[in-house]
Amino acid sequence: MTAASAPGKVILFGEHAVVSGAPALGTAIDLRARVLVEDLPGKTEISIHGLGLRLSGFSVDSDGRVVSLGSSDEAAAAARYVSAVVKALDVRDVRITVSSEIPVASGLGSSAAIVVATLAALSHHMGIDMEVKSIAAEAHRIEKTVQGGLGSPMDTALAAYGGYIQISDGVTPLDLPQMDLVVGCTSVPHDTRAEVARVQELRSRYPEIVDPIFKAMGVISRKAVPCIKDLDLKELGRLMNINHGLLEAIGVGTRELSELVYAARGAGMALGAKLTGAGGGGCMIALPKEGMCSRAITAITQARGRAFVVRTGCNGVTVED
Ligand code: MEV
Repeated sequence: MTAASAPGKVILFGEHAVVSGAPALGTAIDLRARVLVEDLPGKTEISIHGLGLRLSGFSVDSDGRVVSLGSSDEAAAAARYVSAVVKALDVRDVRITVSSEIPVASGLGSSAAIVVATLAALSHHMGIDMEVKSIAAEAHRIEKTVQGGLGSPMDTALAAYGGYIQISDGVTPLDLPQMDLVVGCTSVPHDTRAEVARVQELRSRYPEIVDPIFKAMGVISRKAVPCIKDLDLKELGRLMNINHGLLEAIGVGTRELSELVYAARGAGMALGAKLTGAGGGGCMIALPKEGMCSRAITAITQARGRAFVVRTGCNGVTVED
């Protein structure tokens, strides 16, 4: 039996701009996806648990395709990622059990964490010791295949390496201190692929407008690094507010997201707040003032969000026998 786990993530700065090559900054959070692999002679089975979603008994055919889907779309989507890993590693005769604390379809990196943890657990079970670098690269390839197209390596790199990562020309892990952030989730699921496609379409229609916005987002991502290093949270909050405005400008904000952003900023509870990830739904993050975490959570909850505290800079993928 082998178990592996990998963290979810939040993008701090530069989402969408990163797809067009501008720098982005993200961090691994203390919510994890766990994958257990056991021998199961004659069969390959995938079970998905988590977040009140419970669906067992997926079967996978010899091409690694899921052949029996259950009633939950979220569990079915997770099983699709797992079966893509099964296919890539050409593994059979195993039971794979996935449980995840990471809310799905919220921009918190649930699918990347599942892919990375599955790759680590399955390869270890097969006696192959994949380096973290190879896990990150293979997970990115698999995630892109399942999502059918565009996508930066941000989520899979964070699930594999943990900590903080800057993506620009390549993947650069950064050594930065941990912080507490408040995450607020709207109940609107988002579709990363659709949001990325919409933004890229806007860019091809108005390159002279969208490219400078992406460039400004990239500058913010770089400016944020010394702010986190020195824990200059006031400046960091300002950068979050500017980045949120730019994300609104490219059309990925929603009324629900902005209500949570303004609720968190209201009465000075947060130093800054912005949507995180692809937008169009999903989650926002707020940087609470010292001692204001629970008041920020109350404000987001009163604005009909689901709010919780996350710690940034958490460990990447881990394997246990
Ligand atoms: C999604 O979490 C972040 C985006 O920048 C897409 C990507 O980086 O692949 C919107």
